[in-house]
Formats: sequence, C-alpha cells, structure tokens
Amino acid sequence: MKILLAGATATISSALLPQLHAAGHSMIGLTRSASSAERLRAAGVQPVIADMMDADALLTALDGHSADAVIHQATALTRTPMFHRHLFATDALREQGTRNLLRAATNLGARRFLTQSFFLGYGWRDHGPAHLTEDQPFGQLGHGPFGRHLRSLRSNEDQVLGAAGIHAVALRYGLFYGPERSTFTMMNLARRRRLPVPRPAATLHLVHITDAASATVAALDRGRAGQAYNIVDDQPVAMDRYLDVLAAAAGAPTPRRIPAWLLHATPYLHALLVRTHIRLDNNKAKRELGWAPTYPTYREGLPSAATALR
Ligand SMILES: NC(=O)c1ccc[n+]([C@@H]2O[C@H](COP(=O)([O-])OP(=O)(O)OC[C@H]3O[C@@H](n4cnc5c(N)ncnc54)[C@H](OP(=O)(O)O)[C@@H]3O)[C@@H](O)[C@H]2O)c1
Repeated sequence: MKILLAGATATISSALLPQLHAAGHSMIGLTRSASSAERLRAAGVQPVIADMMDADALLTALDGHSADAVIHQATALTRTPMFHRHLFATDALREQGTRNLLRAATNLGARRFLTQSFFLGYGWRDHGPAHLTEDQPFGQLGHGPFGRHLRSLRSNEDQVLGAAGIHAVALRYGLFYGPERSTFTMMNLARRRRLPVPRPAATLHLVHITDAASATVAALDRGRAGQAYNIVDDQPVAMDRYLDVLAAAAGAPTPRRIPAWLLHATPYLHALLVRTHIRLDNNKAKRELGWAPTYPTYREGLPSAATALR
C-alpha cells in the first residue's frame, strides 16, 4: 500500500517506519519542517511539508498525490505534559487537525484511515481492579480541563470511525516506553538522582513502542472497520514499581520517594502519576489483529531502552 503518514517524525514513527517498509508499504511522510523533510527522504520516505492545522495548505501540499491509506500519528506534545495547557495544542490537533486530515484522505483517494488514540480517554481516575474493554465509555464524564482533553479524544475517534466511505480504525495506545525520548529522559534523571517517585503512585498501562508499531501494521491489514482497539502490554503497572525497575535498568539507584501531595502544583502530572488507576484488556487486539506484544511487560522491555541509551 501507499500510505500517507501524518506524524512521520513522531516517537512511534521511528519504530513504525521500518516495520511499514519491511511489510512492503511505501510512504509519504508529513512534516512541518524542511530539515525533517530531508531526514525523511534519507529514510526512504517521500516528504510533504504542511501544517495539519491549516486545511488549505494541507490540501495544496498534497495536490497531485494519491494514497491507499492514511495513518494519523501527529501529537503536539514535545515532552511529558505537566500542566493542562501542555495538552491544549494536542487537543486542537485531535479535533481540527483530524478533520483536516480526513478531508485530505478523501482527496488522496485513501480507502483506509488509522488514527492514534490514547488509553486515558477512559478517564484520568480510579477505575478499580477490572480490566477495561473497548466497550467501556470513552472520552466522557470529564469536568474542567480534563473534560477538554476527553472531548478531543472522543472527537478524534468519532470523526474517524464515523467517516463515510473509509475503512477506519482507532488505536488506544498505552503509555509508550522503550528506546524513545521520554524513557531516556527518565533514565537520565534517575542517574542524576533527580527522578522523584510519588507515594502513593498511580497504576497505568504501558506499551513498548516496537509493539505499538507492530499493532499499527497489523491494524492496517486486519483492523475491523469502525473499531477501536486497546494497544497495551499484558500487565498494568504500579508506577513506583515501574520507575524503580527503570532506574535499575539504567544503572541508577532506587529513586527517592516524595509525598504525592507535592505534585498538586502540577495538576496534570498529579492526575497521571498519583490519582489514576487503570487496567486495560488487550484481548480484542490479540484476537482480531493477530497481534501480541513482543514485550509482555516492562520487565522484558526496559533492557532494550537501557541498551539504546548506552
Ligand atoms: N501513548 C503515549 O504514551 C504517547 C502518545 C504520543 C506521544 N507520547 C509522548 O509524547 C511525547 C512526544 O511525542 P512525540 O515524540 O511523538 O512527539 P513529537 O516528536 O512532537 O512528534 C509529534 C509528531 O506530530 C507532528 N505534528 C505535530 N503537530 C503537527 C501539525 N500541526 N501538523 C503536522 N504534523 C504535526 C510532528 O511533525 P513535525 O514536527 O515533523 O512537523 C511529529 O511528527 C513523548 O514523550 C512521547 O512518548 C506518548
């Protein structure tokens, strides 16, 4: 297939591009910068320079191109968000950006559309011990700034899965880790003894970026139209335990504990690292996509990040 990849320079795309190439696909990669365009060209991707938030510029830049499928991996995150405002640009990308990309997909003649979604669309709260399936309410019940993030996650999925005449799938990725920037940042902080761990800590669900990428390639072939899939590994994790193992993998001492209330100063981070307890069921992805994580838990997956950091 010929694929337009929006977010061709994103964290996940470093793992996704080689897997798409290996599966025999060819790529047009969207980026906003000329320097990234050159890097994409060197990686065997045909670059197109445009901003997804500018509908006219996007359509003009893609004029004359065609594609069988579009994959939306764009986020406006440049680091782990701490304050709600760090997510506002990504919220907009999930609403207006997705709308513009869907229009572009129609113009390209694409028959398939995969979009990145996020496991915390089920809500930044304590979900109890049950493993959530895709049938649980998604992108609902939020108040204040969380309501804004949840509405945008919902809007992204609704627009894509409800689009007429296109085979659309949403991938609700867990928290990425592995040989990627945010994991390296935390490992370096741990080595400098500057990775504080809140007590008590949240329970979250991770996915190694190589496995997120392989699920994406599988969904391109086998994702059912109109469906969302939880893309997480086999075991949710208490974040204090995870950060201890991450520090050990990086050769750093066990991180020090801080009282959770100290994170009240950074409300988004407090919700992410303290308040949320969420466990997801990944059986639908295993059953329907024929996918299984190579790294069933962070214990198997973290050494790959430590090796890449060295
Ligand atoms: N599930 C998860 O855990 C998850 C999901 C996403 C991100 N993250 C985390 O968020 C952080 C940043 O992620 P990342 O490295 O993927 O972000 P990133 O490097 O900022 O990549 C975002 C991608 O979106 C594209 N993009 C952003 N705004 C765009 C726009 N208006 N028009 C067109 N393209 C646009 C960027 O393209 P150009 O800059 O080339 O134009 C880039 O390819 C990392 O810590 C990552 O782990 C986590």
